[in-house]
Amino acid sequence: MIVKVVVLTGAGISAESGLATFRDVDGLWQGHHVDDVATPEAFHRDPAVVHKFYDDRRRELRTVAPNAAHVALARLEQLLGDDLLVVTQNVDDLHERAGSSRVVHMHGELLSALCESCQGRFPWDDDLGDSPTCPACGNDTLRPDVVWFGEMPYDLDLIEKALVRADLFVAIGTSGAVYPAAGFVRMAARAGAKTLELNLDLSETTHLFDDARQGPAGKVVPEWVADLQGTLR
Ligand code: APR
Repeated sequence: MIVKVVVLTGAGISAESGLATFRDVDGLWQGHHVDDVATPEAFHRDPAVVHKFYDDRRRELRTVAPNAAHVALARLEQLLGDDLLVVTQNVDDLHERAGSSRVVHMHGELLSALCESCQGRFPWDDDLGDSPTCPACGNDTLRPDVVWFGEMPYDLDLIEKALVRADLFVAIGTSGAVYPAAGFVRMAARAGAKTLELNLDLSETTHLFDDARQGPAGKVVPEWVADLQGTLR
C-alpha cells in the first residue's frame, strides 16, 4: 500500500485558475523576459520595475481561485495527513486557499516580503511600492520573497528528506526545465519511490518517470486522487 507521497507542483497546476505559465506561449512571462524581472541583477538595476511587476502579480492573485486540481490535493491531505507533502514551485497561494496545509514553497511566496538587510520575512498582501521599509529594521531593503534565478531555493534539506522516504513521487504541471526541482524524480526513484507525472504535454523529464498521464490538471489530478483513494480502502 502506498502511504508516503511527495507531490511537486509547477505553474501548470494553476493554469486553469487563470495564472500564466512560464514556458508555454512565447517564452515571455506576462510580457517580460525572465531576466528583466526575476534575477537579483534586474532588481538591483531597476527595483521599481521589479516591484511593479510583482505588485501586479500580487493584485492578479486576488482575482483568481483554486481549481479542481488544488482541491483534489487538499482532499488527499485529509486522507494521508502527515504522509503527504506538497512541494510547490509556485509563488501563488492557491494550494493553501484550497485547504492544503503541508505545503513547501521552494521558490518563495508572492504574499511574503523579505528584507535584504535583516533577512526578516513578513506576510505581505499589499503593494510593496517603490522603496518599501522593513517593519523590523527600518531599512528600505524589502523585496518580494521569491527565489530568483541564481538564488538558492528554500527548504531543500526538508524536501530531500521527504523524497528519500517517499513511496510515491508525483510531479504535476511542471516542465522539468528548472533545477533542482527537475532532479527530484531521479532522487526519489533512486531511493525506491514509484514516480508519476501528470502534465498537459510531455515534459523535458517525462522519460524519467515510471508512469505519465497527459491532460489538464483540473481533470487528471482529481482522477489520480480518486484512483489512489481506491487503493487505500
Ligand atoms: N494542466 C497541466 N499541466 C499544464 C497545464 C494544465 N492546464 N497548462 C500547462 N501545463 C504544463 C505545461 O505543459 C508545462 O510542461 O505545465 C508546465 C509549465 O511549465 P513552466 O511554465 O516551465 O512552469 P514550471 O515548471 O513551474 O517552472 C519552473 O521556472 O521560471 C521559473 O521559478 C519559476 O517556479 C518556476 C520554475
